[in-house]
Formats: sequence, structure tokens, C-alpha cells
Amino acid sequence: MTPDNAARYGSFSRFLHWTMALGIGWMLVSAITHSLAKDSGLDAFMWPTHKHVGSALMVLVVVRLLWALVNTARRPASLSLAAKLGHWALYALMFAIPLIGLLRQYGSARAFSPLGLPVFPGRDESTKIQWMTDLGGALHGELGWVLLAAVLGHIAMAWWHRRSPTDNVLPRMIGSSASAR
Ligand code: HEM
Ligand code: HEM
Repeated sequence: MTPDNAARYGSFSRFLHWTMALGIGWMLVSAITHSLAKDSGLDAFMWPTHKHVGSALMVLVVVRLLWALVNTARRPASLSLAAKLGHWALYALMFAIPLIGLLRQYGSARAFSPLGLPVFPGRDESTKIQWMTDLGGALHGELGWVLLAAVLGHIAMAWWHRRSPTDNVLPRMIGSSASAR
């Protein structure tokens, strides 16, 4: 396992970045299909996975946050304050959205076994926690759309910088150490 260094992200950071990029891509496609084509075959296939994949992403983002904190001093420096704030905003959304989804699930008093693991047992209806379900209703989907916009902006910036001799950051996350600046 190669650690991060000033020129590039190491293998575990890349693994977390690309696995979560795939997972978040899946979540956003499932959400878009669910809001635009509820009766489609694609929705019938993807929507039942939404809570399960989202719960796995919750675990991964906690690992990724801890890993980022441990590696802060070793990582490539941000290109600008805006890039740094943008990355932290992505972290904040990646953490808050599934957490709010899980709180709503807990508040609903319904049993929940993501990926077959019994995490919340079902409770009596009278033990529903209203603020948790209200928070989910008010913020979960809305923040999900903000994440969609932020991810598109992130990809656009990484792509935009790729031809710059000084600001091409793609090799930090893709490719060999020889190509990373
Ligand atoms: C990174 C993880 C997640 C992302 C990006 C995400 C994104 C979204 C988005 C954008 C919507 C709105 C869809 C629409 O308007 O039709 C949505 C809905 C929903 N999500 Fe998630 N989600 C995530 C994790 C979770 C988790 C962990 C749960 C539950 C354990 C969950 C449960 C739900 C439910 C029940 C809805 C339908 C109700 C609503 O629109 O709020 N999601 N999600
Ligand atoms: C095709 C999709 C993507 C590409 C090409 C891409 C590219 C990159 C590149 C080149 C970097 C290094 C930037 C630098 O050091 O200045 C980076 C970092 C980062 N990316 Fe992405 N990215 C993609 C998808 C995503 C997604 C979906 C997310 C999550 C919402 C994400 C979150 C982050 C974060 C938080 C960082 C900071 C480093 C870290 O802590 O992992 N990326 N990305």
C-alpha cells in the first residue's frame, strides 16, 4: 500500500476516491431515475439498492475522513483555497447526506438491515422520532442534488485543468508516480 506524498495520492486514498466516486455515481443515477422515471425498469432495478449502497458509503466516508486527517501533512497541496474548500464541501456532503438518511430510517421505527446486516431492530410505532423523520424529509434529497452539482463542478475543474503545465492535477489521482507533478 503506497502512502500519499507531496506529488500524488497513494493507493489507499485512490481506492477510497474511485470506489466512492463509483458508489456516489450509482446513488445519483438511482435518485435521478427515481425522480424522473419512477415506473421504469431501471428504477425497479436501482431504487431497491439506494439505502444499501448509501449505508455502505456512510462507512467508507468515515474511514476516508479519518484517513484524510491522518494524511493531511503528506498529501499534495491544494491548488488554491477554493479547491481546498471545494474538497471539504464534498466531504461534508458525503457525510451529511447518508447520515440524515440513516437518522430518518432510525426515526421511522422501522427495522433496517442494510446488505443483510441487522442494524436497527423494528420498534413500536409510538417510538417514532419526529425530528429525525422531518430532518430527512427536509434535507436528504435536497442536499443530494447539491452534491450532484458539486460533483459535476469538481469533475469539470479537474478536466479543465488537465492541459495546464502547472495545474494538471489528474496524475495525482490517476496514473503512475512518474506523471505526477
Ligand atoms: C451518499 C449517499 C446518498 C445520496 C447521494 C443520496 C441521494 C438521494 C437523493 C438525491 C434523493 C432524492 C430522490 C428524489 O427526489 O426522488 C434521495 C432520496 C431518498 N434517499 Fe437517499 N441518498 C444517499 C443515501 C441514503 C441512505 C443511506 C438512505 C437510507 C438509509 C437513503 C434513503 C433515501 C430515501 C428513503 C429517499 C426518498 C425520500 C426522499 O426523497 O428524501 N439515502 N437520496
Ligand atoms: C470522473 C470523476 C472524477 C474525477 C476525474 C476526479 C478527479 C479528482 C482529482 C484529479 C483529484 C485531485 C485534486 C487535487 O489534488 O487538487 C480529486 C480529489 C478529490 N475528489 Fe475527485 N474526481 C472524480 C469524482 C469524484 C467524486 C464523485 C467525489 C465525491 C463526491 C470526489 C471527491 C474528491 C475529493 C474529496 C478529493 C480530495 C482528495 C481526497 O480527499 O480524496 N471526486 N478528484
